[in-house]
Amino acid sequence: MLILGIESSCDETAASLVEDGRKVLSNVVASQINTHRSFGGVVPELASREHIRNIGYVVRKAFDDAGKGYGDIDGIAVTQGPGLIGSLLVGLSFAKAMAYSNKKPLVPVNHIEGHIYSAFIENPDIEYPFLALVVSGGHTSLIYSPGPGQYRSIGRARDDAAGEALDKLSKFLGLGYPGGPVIDRLANEGNPGRFAFSIPKISDGSLDFSFSGFKTAALRHIRESGIKPRRSGGRISRIILDLVTSYQHAIIKTLVSQTKKAEKRLHPRSILLVGGVACNSHLRKAFKYTFEEKRKIREGAVPVPVYYPSTIYTTDNAAMIAVAGASHFDPDSPLDPELNAYAGLRLC
Ligand code: KG4
Ligand code: ZN
Repeated sequence: MLILGIESSCDETAASLVEDGRKVLSNVVASQINTHRSFGGVVPELASREHIRNIGYVVRKAFDDAGKGYGDIDGIAVTQGPGLIGSLLVGLSFAKAMAYSNKKPLVPVNHIEGHIYSAFIENPDIEYPFLALVVSGGHTSLIYSPGPGQYRSIGRARDDAAGEALDKLSKFLGLGYPGGPVIDRLANEGNPGRFAFSIPKISDGSLDFSFSGFKTAALRHIRESGIKPRRSGGRISRIILDLVTSYQHAIIKTLVSQTKKAEKRLHPRSILLVGGVACNSHLRKAFKYTFEEKRKIREGAVPVPVYYPSTIYTTDNAAMIAVAGASHFDPDSPLDPELNAYAGLRLC
């Protein structure tokens, strides 16, 4: 079975061909980072235009890289939401037209389920039930899955997503866009204990996340310590290094702590760390240490394996959409001409 995946929910135009639900034959991603960089964030109108410009080329290249023709595919999987509506519509309309003209079934995929399936690309035998932390520029969600295609929401962001929190501070301090990878790198050199960020207590016992308090605290530190944003191309001061390191440390501590609480309640057999922020080297280490390494040396503690994808499958890509689509592919499903995109589509 050969599936074409198409992803265009935010600022990456992506297409991929996946065989038998797991073998990635091609994985093409056209990033729009250069278009949005000078704005310090994604500009929705520009994103839609770039998707329109890129999608034909990206899909053609996915076929060329895989050495396949349009007639070789069994179906098309496309991101239906959540995301920017103008961006989603480009991928969905393209996929619909292609499915119609080639008489192939079309599978709509939830972007969050795509991120979850990204962990299966290199680890197809992940055991259920699992607990997934989906952390990206737009989402921070803890999801429990007792079996394939079944999802229960355990916790979600009440305000900013983790990636958004990193991107915003980076923008404010003139460190570059997107902020997540920049702060990840700078945090190798900074002191995580120099600035205090108190972890918010969510009083109703839920496992939700809140990061906007960290942003307010960071602005207070900036004001009180007289920190000046870096001038374009200038040196990054020690105090900025320490501030972003302390800030990232607080975000990671929150992510680990909520996941630990969920793991204690639900006893999953595996933990998945997915979404763009899951590229973060410090976050990966903290998860490995907390759920695997620390428990291997502590008597009586049961390690839970942590899975995260390679970087190419962690940030937005279409291979994860094709793999997720393959998991609920029905070769006989008729094409629904009313199929639409939804900016706020929920997984659970
Ligand atoms: O999954 P993704 O590509 O798009 C969304 O679905 O949002 O995630 C993008 C987010 C951005 O906020 C970016 O700063 C963050 O992932 N990110 C990172 C790293 N690489 C990307 N955050 C922390 N550390 C990284 N190394
Ligand atoms: Zn994403």
